[in-house]
Amino acid sequence: MSVVGETLYVGKHSLVDLANTYKTPLYVYDEKGIEDKINTFSTFFKSDLFKCEVIYASKAFIAPYLCKLLDRAGFGIDAVSAGDLYLINKSNFPMERVILHGNNKSIEELSMGIDLGLEYIVVDSYTELVKLEKIASEKQKTVNTLFRINPGIHADTHAYIETSLLSSKFGESIHDDEILARIVKIYNESKYLVLDGFHSHIGSQINNPRSFVAEVKTMLNFIKRFENKYKLKINTLDLGGGFGIKYLEDDKEINLELILKEIVKAAEAGIEKNKLSIKKLMIEPGRALVGDSGFTLYKCGGLKSTFGGKKYLFIDGGMSDNIRPALYQAKYTVDVANRIKPPLTEDEEYDTLLNFYDVVGKCCESGDIISLNTKIIEVKKDDTIVVYSTGAYTYSMSMNYNGLTRGAVIFVNDDKVREVIKRESLDDLVKTCNFEVE
Ligand code: LLP
Repeated sequence: MSVVGETLYVGKHSLVDLANTYKTPLYVYDEKGIEDKINTFSTFFKSDLFKCEVIYASKAFIAPYLCKLLDRAGFGIDAVSAGDLYLINKSNFPMERVILHGNNKSIEELSMGIDLGLEYIVVDSYTELVKLEKIASEKQKTVNTLFRINPGIHADTHAYIETSLLSSKFGESIHDDEILARIVKIYNESKYLVLDGFHSHIGSQINNPRSFVAEVKTMLNFIKRFENKYKLKINTLDLGGGFGIKYLEDDKEINLELILKEIVKAAEAGIEKNKLSIKKLMIEPGRALVGDSGFTLYKCGGLKSTFGGKKYLFIDGGMSDNIRPALYQAKYTVDVANRIKPPLTEDEEYDTLLNFYDVVGKCCESGDIISLNTKIIEVKKDDTIVVYSTGAYTYSMSMNYNGLTRGAVIFVNDDKVREVIKRESLDDLVKTCNFEVE
């Protein structure tokens, strides 16, 4: 991004013009930022000992155009539902590079996964394995699977996005020998199910390489014990996603390059030490690939000071397009895109001490807050408001609460703008309503 006069630009486009053309709320992606991340993953997630696969977690954000960029990069995609599979397949993405996740997949979803010839179905539980065996037998089709293990690693993140505690609903516990024996029995007796490897995922927005290294070590030790006990060979280890991004100026810098190198190093050492025959290491980044290349634009609908002294800045969106502050107390950096000021002198800083606003949306909820106590030097009605680093888990978690329609999603690459998802219309909003009911 750059500043021309007092206005922010992405590539050759002013954010004010983009907001006016595509209307707000508007999700904008800087395509060059995504390409940089793709390059970082391709360059540093690499080994001479085994194959390395990057499987993008589509839950962070998905659109046909992004499928195209991922295809070009040779990445795979992680889907979690029939809806995801449908969109990815319709985007002409090679389905043999897609894996299917989910902790309660339906018969329809498992069948669809088998029929589409996915790389793997990641089995979440013993019960799901039994269900999958039945479907595969009926179809008489071989199914490549990874089995999800909960390694019980504590990752330092928000409780709602921490997935590896022993009480988590995901996977079967690394400590549950009895269930593992039952799982092996199903695989041994099945003509169609192939156990190619194991999967684990320890949470999201993790910034410490040590959490991932602990995951690698724990999983490789587990695989060693498993192979010895059951006389089976494991080819693949999928470490899931969870790589964090920077949201606020004061957040610690995240060294993705170092995290990736550390993971590969730990895997190479662990495989050698345990004399394992792992041939493929996989990771599933979502947020880290798209999160900080995306931002949301709004228009300021007005300002309000309450009798109690609180100052509000109203935006024409809110929790309907970004639920993360309400759900996880997530914090964001906000600017007025048409009033970017040079750094203040000390005196000016003192004069603006009172310019703190709660940036709030238009939903009928007091929790509809995008950013609390946000320092904004100057703002006026109709200004363009930008909220940074909203590329992950915003559009994909958006909703129509209060009858609000989803905004468009555009990708900007220098002078090019692509509208990759159109703005919802009022007709879209009522398209599933039955108006004929007596
Ligand atoms: N793989 C699996 C099995 C996952 O469950 C997830 C995320 C990922 C990969 C990708 O994780 P990432 O690299 O994006 O951290 N809505 C929350 C995040 C939920 C993450 C769910 N699983 C948020 O907005 O922070």
